[in-house]
Amino acid sequence: MQASVSQYGEVGDILVLPLFKGVEKAPNNALSGLARTQRGLVNDAIASNSFTGKAGKTLTVWTPGCQVALVGMGDSSSVSDKAARDAGAKVLQSLSKDGGTAITARFTTGWKTNQMILFAEGMMLRDYTFDKYQQKDDDDEDHGDWNLDCQASPRHISNLAAGVTKSSAITEGVHLARDLGNEPANYLYPMEYAERAQAWAKGKSNVKLEVYDYERLQKESMGGLINVGKGSVQKPCMVLFTLNPDADSGKRVPCIVGKGITFDTGGISLKPGAGMDEMKFDMHGAATVQGLMYALHATGHKGRVNAIACLAENMPGAEAYRPGDVIPTYSGKTIEVLNTDAEGRNVLADGLWKAGEFDPEYIVDLATLTGACVVALGNEASGLWSNDDDLRARIHEAGNCEDEIAWPMPLLPAFEKEMTGSKIADVRNLGTSRYGGANTAAAFLKQFVPDRPTETNADGENESKGEQIPWAHLDIAGTAWGASSNAAVAHGATGIHVRTLHRLITQ
Ligand code: BES
Ligand code: MN
Ligand code: ZN
Repeated sequence: MQASVSQYGEVGDILVLPLFKGVEKAPNNALSGLARTQRGLVNDAIASNSFTGKAGKTLTVWTPGCQVALVGMGDSSSVSDKAARDAGAKVLQSLSKDGGTAITARFTTGWKTNQMILFAEGMMLRDYTFDKYQQKDDDDEDHGDWNLDCQASPRHISNLAAGVTKSSAITEGVHLARDLGNEPANYLYPMEYAERAQAWAKGKSNVKLEVYDYERLQKESMGGLINVGKGSVQKPCMVLFTLNPDADSGKRVPCIVGKGITFDTGGISLKPGAGMDEMKFDMHGAATVQGLMYALHATGHKGRVNAIACLAENMPGAEAYRPGDVIPTYSGKTIEVLNTDAEGRNVLADGLWKAGEFDPEYIVDLATLTGACVVALGNEASGLWSNDDDLRARIHEAGNCEDEIAWPMPLLPAFEKEMTGSKIADVRNLGTSRYGGANTAAAFLKQFVPDRPTETNADGENESKGEQIPWAHLDIAGTAWGASSNAAVAHGATGIHVRTLHRLITQ
């Protein structure tokens, strides 16, 4: 979707008019550019009982040369950010390109600039399809992309234009994350993810990209990634992103880590067949990482940001790791593998430890980590665990602002004890019971979050404060796809938390 901003003027093929409750005739400027007969039809519709401005109710009026979509917004004093964004998403979903692709969205009496931006953002977010593998019918015309012009009175224009430009850039990042998430596993395997990242980074002087291929993983002794990925012919890799590598020197900056299992069969602990196709989405943490880096770059973020994607395909096979194996990790700690299907935590063990090398301000990981998290929170919220109250609060707040809810979950010492209770290794990758599986998974990850590096004191002695780097874990197993209540997504991958993390990092 192309988006622009202008003052009231010409109308396109479709006029979107979001109106508040109690409206009886078209507000000033709402119908400028329309002919008298067109204005008459729209005003009659607004005056009729068929349109009251009630929230969620829409009425489309056909006029010669322009379809006018009246969108009920409810009470002007009580339109939440979510309601504004969802209204935009829902109206976009209802539009057809048959009469043309030029949309004019006109904001009139009662609209605040911020609400206009959110309405436009909803339209942009919802404008997404993944149809690259479908043949186009010969008689199906290719209508091309939507063209959206947002119109408002002069005092809004400059802030509206800035806001729409920013939302448009972030939305491209969200859509990139969806593209990666939706891509079938036969096309998107670990090195293909790396190649797409490389293609994006190419020629961008403020993006540094490093790919640790299978050979390099071995040199680095990244046993978590190696063991999860070695059962597949598509070998694992790690992708390291740095935006603005030369900025903020001497300053601690964020590091984001994503689980990227391009397909999760469960490995030797094979998953049941029903619904296994959905495990192509098991790399959505890594998809969000790439979408986020895209969005930060596209919005012109000036600060340095690091990100790490941990990619592997979890397959059974002659070379696959097995239940009972004890595997080494990059951290030096060993893992007793009790279930090869608890693989996300194994690859993140290496990613989190690597993140520590950047001496980051904080680490946030994203992972479609546990079915237990979906049992707990459904498709409505990601689980959020953190060793730092302030970081947890900031992520929760950013998530609320973006309507990407991240719900605080407990990181209890008892869960850590459970996961460090192996008789033969440092950590076990399975809890002792089937209860609290999302919490035990988080407690496992915490074992691989490094302490702050030792500092040299005034006497030249090394002092370790034993203080862990602030870290938060987002379990996106329920929110990465399948959210039927999400107005901004038709189906498939959601691009979850690109917007949350963009806000967290840039605000
Ligand atoms: N990728 C799955 C988690 C998952 C399941 C995400 C369903 C979304 C929907 C993960 O690798 C996994 O298999 N987890 C196991 C852990 C168990 C073996 C401790 C699970 O949740 O069953
Ligand atoms: Mn698994
Ligand atoms: Zn998995």
